[in-house]
Formats: sequence, C-alpha cells, structure tokens
Amino acid sequence: MKIAMIGSGYVGLVSGACFADFGHEVVCVDKDEGKISRLNANIMPIYEPGLDALVKTNVDAGRLSFSTDVMQSVKGCGAIFIAVGTPSRRGDGHADLSYVYAAAEELARAIDPGTVVVTKSTVPVGTGDEVERIIRQTSPDLEFAVVSNPEFLREGAAIGDFKRPDRIVVGSDVEWARDVMRAIYRPLFLNESPLLFTSRRSSELIKYAANAFLATKITFINEMADLCEKLGADVQDVSRGIGLDNRIGPKFLHAGPGYGGSCFPKDTLALLKTAQDNETPVRVVEAVVQANDLRKRAMGRKIINALGGDVRGMKIGLLGLTFKPNTDDMRDAPSIAIVQTLLDAGAIVHAHDPEGMEEAAKILPDVVMADSAYSAAQDAHAVALITEWDAYRALDLKKLHAAMAGDVLVDLRNIYRPEEAQAAGFNYVSVGRND
Ligand code: UGA
Repeated sequence: MKIAMIGSGYVGLVSGACFADFGHEVVCVDKDEGKISRLNANIMPIYEPGLDALVKTNVDAGRLSFSTDVMQSVKGCGAIFIAVGTPSRRGDGHADLSYVYAAAEELARAIDPGTVVVTKSTVPVGTGDEVERIIRQTSPDLEFAVVSNPEFLREGAAIGDFKRPDRIVVGSDVEWARDVMRAIYRPLFLNESPLLFTSRRSSELIKYAANAFLATKITFINEMADLCEKLGADVQDVSRGIGLDNRIGPKFLHAGPGYGGSCFPKDTLALLKTAQDNETPVRVVEAVVQANDLRKRAMGRKIINALGGDVRGMKIGLLGLTFKPNTDDMRDAPSIAIVQTLLDAGAIVHAHDPEGMEEAAKILPDVVMADSAYSAAQDAHAVALITEWDAYRALDLKKLHAAMAGDVLVDLRNIYRPEEAQAAGFNYVSVGRND
C-alpha cells in the first residue's frame, strides 16, 4: 500500500520507516526543507538507536522517500497519517491543534476518493470529529474516513516498540477503513500483536489514559520512595514486592527524579484541561502533575542537603541531562529544574551527557559542559547522577572519587549499590533507600 506521513518528526519518521520496512511504499512529508534535504542525505533530525540504518535500508530499497510537497505525495495513497506536533498551548495547557487542523485543510484539497486519514498525533477527544468536519467542508462529496491510531512508542526504544507492540489501537466505526488499517498492520498481527478496534473517541482517550496511568505509577513509587527514606524502608524492595503482583506489574515502578519528556508532562496537562472543560475532575491526575512538578526542584534540594545545606561557590558535577537515556531530548527534563535550583543556591554546575549536551547548552547556558563523566567530576564537591545512561553504570568509582574535591555522590536513579559506592570512599545518597 502507498502511505503518506504528514510530519517527519519523531513519530512520523519512526512510523514511516517501520511501515516501509513492512513492505509498504511510504513518503514522509515535512514543511521544513532543511529537514527533508538532510533526510535525503541520511542525516537524522533526532537521535534514535537504529533509525539511520532502518531509513537507509528502506530508501535504498525504494520503499521510503521524503518530500516537502503534500499535494504530490498523497496522490494514490490508501492511507495518510497525520503525525504533526501537538505541543502544550502557551498559557492554558490545552493541546495546540493548529498543526493538525492545518494538515486537515491541506489534505481536504489533495486526497483521492477512498482514502483513510489517520491521526497518529496525540490529540484530545473529539479532534477526529473536527478533522472530518474540515475535510467534508471543502470536499462534501468525497468518500473518506478519519481514523484514530495513537502511538505508544518510547523514545530510545521506538523501533522495537513499533515492531513488537503490546497492542495496536484503531478507532473507527467505518468497516472499510478498519479493513485498510488491518492491511497496513497485517505483519504485526501475524506476530500476534492484538489489534484493538474501538470508536474514534475511545481510541483518542486511550492514549491519554495510558500516559496518565504510567505517570501515576511513577509518581506513586516516587512518593513511596520519600516515605521509605523517613521509615527506614527500601523502595527497591517495595517496588519489587508490589510489582510481583500481576495486577500491579513490575514496570514503571523505578523511583527517580520525576518524569519528564515530550509526552507525560504535556499529555497529563491536556487531560486535566479536557476533564475541567467537561466538569469531570480527574483528581488523581491533578495530584500527579503537582507532585511531579514539586519533585524536580526537591531533587535539587536533595543534592544541596547532601552537601550540608550551603553550596555557595561549590562545584557540582551532573551526569546525564536528557529526560532519559538513549535520546538527545531535553524537553521537560528533570535536570532543568535541578540545575536551576543549584544555580539559585549559588553553586557552579558542570555536566556531561552522552548525547544531550548540544540541546542542553541552549536551555542551560550557565552550565559548563564537560567532555567526560570524569571531567565533570574534576574538583567537584558533589557528583549527581540524573539520567541512567549505560555509560554511567560502569564508572570507575575510585577514579571518579579521586578526581573530586569532595566525596558526595547523589544517585537519583539508584544504579549503584550503596556498599560499592561507600567502598570507593563516597558519601553516597540515593532515592528511597537508607544508604
Ligand atoms: C512515553 C510512553 O512510555 C510511550 O508509551 C508513549 O508513546 C510516549 O510517552 C508518547 O506519548 O509519545 P517516553 O516519553 O519516550 O514514552 O518515555 P518513557 O520511557 O515512558 O519515560 C518517561 C519518563 O518517565 C522519563 O523521564 C523516565 O525517566 C521516567 N520514568 C519512567 C521513571 O522515572 N520511572 C520509571 O519507572 C519509568
């Protein structure tokens, strides 16, 4: 089948490359000419493991191409995916749908009869209705269907998540559109990934409910971690102990500095707005958003407290700035609030990150970027590990300690065992454990 992706950002590019790998003919479209010409030269706009090789293989095989021309690209397509951004609207937290609606307006004039328009962007409930209305207004006699098909890709593991999904959700009541979606995803359900058909509105809500639930799990264990510190319990044991209950499950129960990224903060906020607009408060999610916001700065204070409460003029080395490993994404990263708290308290902050330093330097101009973990630690009074990159899991702790002026190691991801850090001479502080 011929497929067009409108928007060649994270979701559009990964999904487009994976669909091409299934054997479909895919064109990824974007308005950004620079991005399209870089993609044509196999230069990826994002860091995602395996993506450059996947793109190259499929471009070489003639199944994947890039274009800035919507009109041209959508000709002859069985399905067109809208995968443009839906950022938080400044001021009110609602999802900004202007890119989605602009795409719908453009498609209204361009698509062939019998086309399925699929919203892959994360969109509030009712957006599919509006996309349908926009297209129908311009082309009242056109036969088309608007389907919701949310993505559940994690940055850093997106290709694996796409090819081995827990489920594929398709929201549409139109039978012929469901058949088109079955044909597109056929290679996956042959692998026994369940294809769940729902109404369009249910599908739109599933995306938000899933992200809000995961954000709740993380926030819950983070609060348990705080309690563990007070009670002399160990959050890793608590997490394991509850996670072995099948009804709870072990995933997304790692305590840390709070969730960040381009999805959970934005989507939880948008869900709150939808709930408020419909006068049906979702109080659990409200509490999650608030607790997570407070937690990020609290993690900065945790580092300050580990240094005795006054860090004026002290050097602090941070390891990891991105919101999680295997990405260069700095959006809503906990490191941003942590750095601000440390700088406000008068500390001098040096940092290292394997992929995120270029992005981080734009957001955190007062941080000195170091070329290795050890140089971030050089003469530092404390080192704080913020993102659990593999490169930080096997540090030579004795060497790290020797480079420093002080002996404090704050491990906000619990990747070291207290005994091993203490054996290397550290005054070791982690999350929810009694070090
Ligand atoms: C998330 C979801 O996991 C995807 O299913 C979804 O498709 C995506 O959002 C989206 O809506 O597009 P992502 O933001 O890439 O994916 O990253 P996650 O791996 O979910 O991590 C999010 C944040 O939670 C990170 O800051 C991470 O460090 C934190 N986290 C995660 C924890 O602190 N503890 C955990 O146990 C798990």
